[in-house]
Formats: sequence, C-alpha cells, structure tokens
Amino acid sequence: MALILNFILLTFLQVFLVAAQQTNGSIPVGASLNATDNNVAAWVSPSGDFAFGFKKVEGKDDFMLSIWFDKIRDKTIVWYPQDIHVVSRGSKVELTGGRGLILSDPQGRELWSSQSIANVSYGFMNDTGNFVIVDRNSSNIWESFNHPADTMLPTQVLRRGGVINSKLSETNFSKGRFQLQFLEDGNVVCKSRNIDFDFTYNTYFESSTSNRSNPLNAGSQLIFDPTGYLYILRGDGQISNLSLRNTALSPQDYYYKTTLDSDGMLTVYSHLKNPTEYTSWEDIWFVPKKFLCFLNGTQYDSRACGFNNVCNLDTDRPNCECPQGFSLLDPNDPNGDCKPDLTLSCEASESNEDIDFMAVANVNWPGSDYMQIRSVSEQECKDGCKEDCFCAVVMYNDNICWKMRLPLFNGRRGLMQMTKALVKYRKGENPPNNSPNIPQKFPRERKGHNTLIIIISTLLGCAMVVNVTLIGVICFAFFVSYRKKVKNHYPSSKFVNTNMTHFTYQELVKATEVFNEELGRGSFGIVYKGVIGKNIVAVKKLDRVIDDGEKEFEAEVNAIARTHHKNLVQLLGYCDEGEQRLLVYEYVSNGTLAHFLFGDDRPSWKQRIDIALGIAKGLSYLHEECITQVIHCDIKPQNILLDDHYNAKISDFGLAKLLKINESHTNTGIRGTKGYVAPEWFRNTPVTVKVDVYSFGVLLLEIISCRKTVKVIDQSGVEYGSILTDWAWECYQGRVLNAFVENDLEAIDDYKKLTTYVMVGLWCVQENPSLRPTMRQVIQMLEGVIKVSEPSCPFPFFVS
Ligand SMILES: *[C@@H]1O[C@H](CO)[C@@H](O)[C@H](O)[C@H]1NC(C)=O
Ligand SMILES: *[C@@H]1O[C@H](CO)[C@@H](O)[C@H](O)[C@H]1NC(C)=O
Ligand SMILES: *[C@@H]1O[C@H](CO)[C@@H](O)[C@H](O)[C@H]1NC(C)=O
Ligand SMILES: *[C@@H]1O[C@H](CO)[C@@H](O)[C@H](O)[C@H]1NC(C)=O
Ligand SMILES: *[C@@H]1O[C@H](CO)[C@@H](O)[C@H](O)[C@H]1NC(C)=O
Ligand SMILES: *[C@@H]1O[C@H](CO)[C@@H](O)[C@H](O)[C@H]1NC(C)=O
Ligand SMILES: *[C@@H]1O[C@H](CO)[C@@H](O)[C@H](O)[C@H]1NC(C)=O
Ligand SMILES: *[C@@H]1O[C@H](CO)[C@@H](O)[C@H](O)[C@H]1NC(C)=O
Ligand SMILES: *[C@@H]1O[C@H](CO)[C@@H](O)[C@H](O)[C@H]1NC(C)=O
Repeated sequence: MALILNFILLTFLQVFLVAAQQTNGSIPVGASLNATDNNVAAWVSPSGDFAFGFKKVEGKDDFMLSIWFDKIRDKTIVWYPQDIHVVSRGSKVELTGGRGLILSDPQGRELWSSQSIANVSYGFMNDTGNFVIVDRNSSNIWESFNHPADTMLPTQVLRRGGVINSKLSETNFSKGRFQLQFLEDGNVVCKSRNIDFDFTYNTYFESSTSNRSNPLNAGSQLIFDPTGYLYILRGDGQISNLSLRNTALSPQDYYYKTTLDSDGMLTVYSHLKNPTEYTSWEDIWFVPKKFLCFLNGTQYDSRACGFNNVCNLDTDRPNCECPQGFSLLDPNDPNGDCKPDLTLSCEASESNEDIDFMAVANVNWPGSDYMQIRSVSEQECKDGCKEDCFCAVVMYNDNICWKMRLPLFNGRRGLMQMTKALVKYRKGENPPNNSPNIPQKFPRERKGHNTLIIIISTLLGCAMVVNVTLIGVICFAFFVSYRKKVKNHYPSSKFVNTNMTHFTYQELVKATEVFNEELGRGSFGIVYKGVIGKNIVAVKKLDRVIDDGEKEFEAEVNAIARTHHKNLVQLLGYCDEGEQRLLVYEYVSNGTLAHFLFGDDRPSWKQRIDIALGIAKGLSYLHEECITQVIHCDIKPQNILLDDHYNAKISDFGLAKLLKINESHTNTGIRGTKGYVAPEWFRNTPVTVKVDVYSFGVLLLEIISCRKTVKVIDQSGVEYGSILTDWAWECYQGRVLNAFVENDLEAIDDYKKLTTYVMVGLWCVQENPSLRPTMRQVIQMLEGVIKVSEPSCPFPFFVS
C-alpha cells in the first residue's frame, strides 16, 4: 500500500515537474538542452505523453538523446539516433535555424545532426511521439517517425526502403542482430544481421506482400494505426493484416508500440495509461512464432542466437543458453555470442594430454561441421578430434562422427536425442568456469589457424613451382594431389575408414541397363544413371586413364573416397577390370549449376548465395581439410551439381590425376576451361591452389549476376563487356551494382551483401595469385566473419 502511494506521489511529482517545463509543445529556434543530472532536460509534448531530450543511462554517467514515454514509470525509450546514442555529461542538443537539431559533445564538437537544410521555423514534440521540424512554409522538413530506431508508434508509417533495427540487447542500443526491411518489391521481411559488417543473413519472417504479376497490388506502406493494429496497405488499396485489431484495448486507455525486439521478434505491445499500480508492457501479438530456431529444410541459417550459443526449441520466443563448456561473452546479452572455456591452440608445444570431452545432451549445430567420418567408434571420434587442433566439438551418432570448429552457428537444443555432442575441455578446468568474463572481441580462435594456413600455403607455393615451359612434363605432378601431414591436424589414416565398394563390370552393366540413360558428358567420360540396390547412382565411365595398373588406380580412388563433405559429390565405389575404369557416385538430382544459373528463370538471390557459400566450403575442404590435398583445376558451373535441396556439390575433383598426360584434353597443356583459368597458367609463375580460387572468383561473379563469363551480350545483341570480370570491376568502381545484377530487386535490397560478394569475387580474380585470398578466408568473408577490404583492379597488367 505504501508502495502504491509512493508511486502515485512520485507520478504526481513528475507530472508537476514536467508541467513546470511544459510549453505548448513548440520549440523555438535557438532552444537547447544540456545533458546534466536534471531530470527535466526535455521538451515535452502538449499532453505530456512524450518527451524529447537527454535520458540518463542507468548506472553510468552517460546520457542518451532520445524520445520516451514520459508518463510511464519505466520511461520507455521509443526513438534515438541510429548512429550515436550515448553521450557524456555536458553534451548539448540545439535546434538551429539552418540545420535543424545538432548534437554536440561538451567540447562543442558536432556528433550528430538532423541534416534538415532549410529555414527552420520551429520544432514540435507531437503527442503522437513524433518530433518534427517545421519550416517557414509550415511543412515538416524532418520527422523522427521517418528515421525509426527499433520502435513504431501508432500513426507511424514505414514506406518501401524503410528499415527498423533491433537493439543489441535490453541495455545496449547499438544496432542489433535483427533487421526489418520494407523491400522495394513490396515485401516486409525480418532478417538476422551481421553486427560487424552490417549485412543480413536469412529471412525468418516475411509478409508475402510482393506481387510479381501485378506490381500495383504489392505492399506500399506498413501502417501502425492509432488503435494499435499493424497492417500493410497495398498499392491498390487492399489491406493485409499483420496483427489483429484488438477492440478490447481502447486507445483512450492504452499506449501501444511495435518493436523489433533484441531477440528478433516483431512484437506489438500495450500498456495501461493510468495504472493504479505498477504495470509493464504486455505483448498482444508477435511473429514469428516458434520459428526462429527451427531447422527449415536446408535453411540452417536462422542465427537466432549468437556464435556458439544454443537456441531452445521449446519456447515461443528464442531463448538462448550457452552450452556446457562455453560462457556468455556479454552477460547482459543472453542471446549473444558464447566463448569457449577452452582456448584451442595449434602450437606444437601445446600438449593435448589433459584434453577430454564432456557429453552435452540434446544439442546440435547443424551445418557447422567441416568433416564427417563414417564407420568409427565414439572413442575413435574423440581421438580424431583430440589430435586435430581445429576441432572444438564432435557430434557422434551411429558410427558417424562430425567434427566442428569454432565459431559454431545455428545451435539448437532438443529434438535430436540420438546425436551426442562432445565438447573438448581441459581436465582441471572443469567444472567450466562461469564467472563473468572480460568481453573480448569475437572471434579470437582463428589466430592459430591463420598462421598455420600461411605455413601450409607457403610450403605449397615452394613445392609446386611450375614453369609454363615445363607444364607438359610437370603437369602430371601438379595434378597429383600430394599427401602432406601437419602436426595435430589431420587424423591418421587408420582413423578414416572408407566404405568403398569394388564392383565388377558386369554389375555395373546391369545397374545401368547396359549404359542406357546418359546423364551427362564431362572431360573424363560419360556419366550414366544406374540403380544399385535401392539407390540411384551415377556411373562415370572414364575414357582416359593412367595405365599404371590397378594398384595406382585403387590408391587414387581410395584417396578420393576419403573425402567426405556435404558440398562434394560422394564416391561410393569403383570398378577396374581390364581396360574398364568406372567410378560410382551418389546421384545428385537437380542437374548442374550451369543449367540452373543460365536457364530461363533467374534463381532467387537467396538460393544463389547459399550455393556460392556451399561451393566455397567444398573447395576449402579440398584445399585445406582433407587428408590428401586436392586441387580441382576445373571449377566451372558445369562441374557443380545441385541436390534436391539445391545444395551445391562439387564433382570431378581428384580426377586430374587419373588423366593420361599425353591425352590431356586441351592442346595448350593448360588444364581447365576457357574463361575460368587463372592467368598464371600462361606465365612463368608458380601454380598453386590459388588457380581454384581464381576459377571460384569467376564462378562467384557468374552466380551473382546470372551471366556467363565469356560473352556479355545484352538483349539487343550488343556486346558490352568482353568478360565478366571486367564488367564486374566497372560496375563496382562506378558504384552501379544494380546494373551488374540486372536490377534483381532481391539482390539490390541486400545491397551490403551484394557489395561484399562482388568484392570477394574481385579479390579472387586478382591476376597476382598472392593477392587472392585462401578459400578459408573467402568463406569467412562471405559469412561476414572477417572484413573485406577494397579490392584493387584485378588486372593491372592488361590494358583492355
Ligand atoms: C506555442 O506558444 C508560443 C508562445 O509561447 C507561440 O509563439 C507558438 O505559436 C505556439 N505554437 C503552437 C503550435 O501553438
Ligand atoms: C546549458 O549550459 C550552458 C553553459 O554550460 C548554459 O549557457 C545554458 O544556459 C544551458 N542551457 C540550459 C537549457 O540549461
Ligand atoms: C533562408 O531564408 C533566407 C532569407 O530569409 C534565404 O536567403 C536563404 O536562402 C534561405 N535558406 C534556405 C536554405 O532556404
Ligand atoms: C501532430 O500529430 C497530429 C496527428 O497525426 C497531426 O494532425 C498534427 O498535424 C501534428 N502536428 C504537427 C505540428 O506536426
Ligand atoms: C516555400 O514554398 C515555396 C514553394 O514550394 C518555395 O518556393 C519557397 O522557397 C519555400 N520557402 C521556404 C522558406 O522554404
Ligand atoms: C554496445 O555494444 C557495442 C557492440 O558490441 C559496443 O561497442 C558498445 O560499447 C556497447 N555499448 C554499451 C553501452 O555497452
Ligand atoms: C496479385 O494481384 C492479383 C490481382 O490483384 C491477384 O489476383 C493475385 O492473387 C495477387 N497475387 C499475389 C501473390 O498476391
Ligand atoms: C483483417 O482484420 C480485420 C479486422 O481487423 C478483419 O475483419 C479481417 O477479416 C482480417 N482479414 C484477414 C484476411 O484476416
Ligand atoms: C519453415 O518451417 C515452417 C514450420 O515448419 C513452415 O511452415 C514453413 O513453410 C517453412 N518454410 C520454408 C521456406 O521451408
């Protein structure tokens, strides 16, 4: 009772204090506010509902320039400038006649401005919560409603191109891990977002209000009406509901707000205007329900929780919790990143004697694995991870072992009781130390990595110097995927069992019904469809093979079979009988990337970027992770297959070695396909894995633009670029990437990522191989884990 009285008294006091400052809501030019401890450093709306000014940051001597609900005890913040929110004591905001609002620090340096260039007449804190700046013609030249932060208020409208960012956490107002975008095609979508590089990942909610066949019918405004009802107004006047109109809560009695919360949920809240006791905001509607954590077909990428964190599938809202062996990076951000208690190290001096594994129940990070090993025991699985300094976690189920490295993505808990997660830890450091840790910039674990990789690539560079003049002779040696062990990294061969089956020629004749159905023709022979047992397979009949005998063939085939990766076509078996050499692969149902990319319908941007990332992962595995290093030499869309979920699978890897040298399919001695081959094939420079990086770069640019590399011809038949890389560079330099993607709206709406992908493509096609990134770096750049710097001109030696 005393508490309530106290509260009422307080409220009165506040209203009174505010009233003392209150005008008619109108702010004259020249008025200013100082960030001091004074509670009434604010401009209040006529009704007193909203205030604009400095709000003290709890527990700190800092202030936030913001608009808040002034009559609510929590003083809930509804707006703040997106670029700068926290300022120190003594900062000032002023309404100027020429440039609107200017925020400056105690030294008078400008921190932010409303950038409204006009003759300002006055400012006005409206009762709707909208701060407006009015010019001499009485028109609004700036409105806080047009620059939303994480909140929409009743009467606020968001138009195409508009964006709403979540906060990072309850207490940190920096742009968070989720973003709502009103796309140009009329769709309103929510996407998870990369904090460091400001590009977005997958869409986890969409309003489905685009309309390709009738653009007039597409969404044009997202409206939060005065009764707290959120809907989309289409161009032709039709309405698409988002929330439901709730007549029980009248706007006379309730405040409303819609926020994109820091956990990614788009939520409509209500709050009683004159509570007789303390109440807080109640959600009356939110999306998406039960979706954010879900594994959706191939859509692993929801990113509801931060790196290494794990999402709970049992709750409506994403509820993340660090798994055992990890702790929160920022204790105030429970859905943010988790850091491992064990710091992995690839230093040779580091002993792994005291490394052990703890089983963590019901947790998985689908898609985070980099290596899958079949037919192993749990102990062998652990041993393999123990020996591998990149491996942080293994999943084990039914004789299959998945190795995972940091950072882990898309963690989820529940629904997979069968698979066991085993997390590496150091004995003696258990139980995991859960004391608050000093936040460190994530991720840090890669340091050891990178040095190791540099060493590997240097070794490679030296070992693989190839002279063009010698190509004919040495090419073979180059194609030979050579074996190389790095301490602690690769598992011993006994650990990797293969399930290779040896087939007789007759068996394959039968399986393919005498080579009846042709699936395709590659540089190595013809591929036929076949059925073995219940499985459909692809049987490749090699037409040119080394004649060194069966031993060599078998050894090579075994090496290929040991590569297990979801982005590589899996070899299942082989046949070598007399002259016959056949390879049996898993059947991949959706044809080649070439067919998909250059067909009649442009595939979606989302599918394209997933495919690009998949290819990068497969190549990185071939270059750096499998026991036998493999340089593919012929990366092109015809060699990428798509499975029934449109996952990319690289085919024809490891086969270069099986080719007879004197029957090499090109006359020049250059391996690869015109348009995709790296320039060092033509020069007296070393040839390394970077040849694949170059081909990948060309392929990436093709995937982005849906254009073939060699000819660039527009619809009227005019050739406007000799090769795609030139065109990409021109578009990038001229900042006209929409031309590069032919006004693909989906890609343009995702401009940050589009730019990132093009930049990565341009780095990959650098003439100088040493400037090209490794495939591992490519993945990190595509995933936004490391920053992409400005690419230089890819072809400085040529004048085209
Ligand atoms: C608010 O009051 C000031 C005088 O205090 C007056 O000049 C101004 O016109 C009023 N504005 C509005 C919008 O009523
Ligand atoms: C803000 O501080 C300056 C000097 O520090 C003072 O001149 C000015 O009157 C103050 N303004 C308000 C609104 O308190
Ligand atoms: C503001 O008004 C003055 C005259 O009153 C005029 O000369 C000036 O160009 C105006 N500035 C802008 C930005 O409209
Ligand atoms: C304040 O908001 C109301 C309701 O949207 C509007 O009618 C009025 O014009 C606004 N006042 C100003 C000065 O913008
Ligand atoms: C007022 O509007 C007219 C016509 O739109 C324009 O020419 C004039 O410059 C405006 N004046 C101010 C002060 O903005
Ligand atoms: C909010 O988070 C950002 C990004 O992690 C960080 O740079 C900033 O210091 C944090 N701000 C506060 C007030 O904690
Ligand atoms: C597109 O608009 C047409 C005509 O208004 C309508 O019949 C059709 O259902 C709409 N399609 C979608 C996907 O909304
Ligand atoms: C949209 O909401 C209105 C009331 O708010 C309701 O009458 C209408 O049936 C809803 N439409 C759909 C498609 O749910
Ligand atoms: C994702 O999963 C939800 C729930 O299972 C389902 O309704 C939706 O259609 C799925 N979306 C896609 C794109 O698969």
